[in-house]
Amino acid sequence: METLIPVINRLQEVFLTVGADSIQLPQIVVVGSQSSGKSSVLESLVGRDFLPRGSGIVTRRPLVLQLVHVPPLEERRKHDNGNESKRNSQNSYPGIKAEEWGTFLHCKNQVFLYLELLCIGLLAGIGNEPIYLKIFSPNVLSLTLVDLPGITKVPVGDQPEDIEIQVQEMILSFISNPNSIILSVSPATSDLATSDALKLAREVDPDGRRTLLVVTKLDLMDAGTDALEVLLGRVIPVRLGIIGVVNRSQHDLNTRKSVPDAAKDEQAFLQRHYPSLASRCGSRYLARTLSRLLMHHIRDCLPELKTRVTVLTAQYQARLNSYGQPVEDPSAMLLQIVTKFASDYCNTIEGTARHIQTSELCGGARICY
Ligand code: GDP
Ligand code: NA
Ligand code: MG
Repeated sequence: METLIPVINRLQEVFLTVGADSIQLPQIVVVGSQSSGKSSVLESLVGRDFLPRGSGIVTRRPLVLQLVHVPPLEERRKHDNGNESKRNSQNSYPGIKAEEWGTFLHCKNQVFLYLELLCIGLLAGIGNEPIYLKIFSPNVLSLTLVDLPGITKVPVGDQPEDIEIQVQEMILSFISNPNSIILSVSPATSDLATSDALKLAREVDPDGRRTLLVVTKLDLMDAGTDALEVLLGRVIPVRLGIIGVVNRSQHDLNTRKSVPDAAKDEQAFLQRHYPSLASRCGSRYLARTLSRLLMHHIRDCLPELKTRVTVLTAQYQARLNSYGQPVEDPSAMLLQIVTKFASDYCNTIEGTARHIQTSELCGGARICY
């Protein structure tokens, strides 16, 4: 996703210049049964260790994780020094001397400089209200990810009798948003035909235009069985794709295996067990696939942007004419920029698509946006 960051930043600048609302990327929502690996999948996408996960640890409240791209610390420092008057502008974040940090909506004045500590804040709350967490970093795309509680059947502990319905309604309220991309997470160890995650996704997205199936726990299948048929779409076809992954196991979590090491091991596993599919599986491929979906979304936004610039150009032209002075027209230049951007951008998409088709997944690659 790193190739998307400069593209989106430039696009966002153009949006600001023409006074349009900033571009709204789709939010990415994970659904699946309890312990299917939802939090693990999100974590591998963010490349960080701060989501509560584990076999006994349950995400009870939806977590709305807003990633916010900020300039690197060095650039922010320069900005702070050079522009005393603009100290509170969006690009500045004065006083924060860290490369990246996190904040919770429910603890307004607290800034977490060590992202690993966010876990504490995430486990604290009770109730059904979503937790809003913002992560600011130079290494992320400005994007929203939503981690949902697992689909449950039987109330445990202090859960109410109608927990199944409550959770289902909560999940539906997030995934029915047409601006959501649904990551439907199902473990390879259970029957896909009974997957509640896919069932719910189908309810709100019957044509499968915004649902991706992520099959986790490939490493935990019984000896002598594999997920080949599932991954090839022969069991249940999924239009946008079926991507098998191997997340960190509970043992990996206990022994603190790092995200990059996990990615390396995942690749080795896929090469060994699914050589013909290895280049179309894994967390890295999942991240690439999501990038491509986001690119398509942006492409769909471009015509409106162009219309807006054309209208502005006409307005400026009219104003210029009323002044009756022959000066250079800055808005024409802007149109030129956007047009050039649109064509550059299409090349980028094609390039990315080609890259995805032809790329060999190399071991040890870091997964990051
Ligand atoms: P969630 O409840 O759906 O959010 O699931 P978690 O991400 O918390 O994962 C539940 C448990 O399954 C944790 O102990 C993970 O380490 C483990 N887990 C998740 N994905 C995989 C996988 O692909 N392979 C293995 N071996 N364990 C996994
Ligand atoms: Na869990
Ligand atoms: Mg979870």
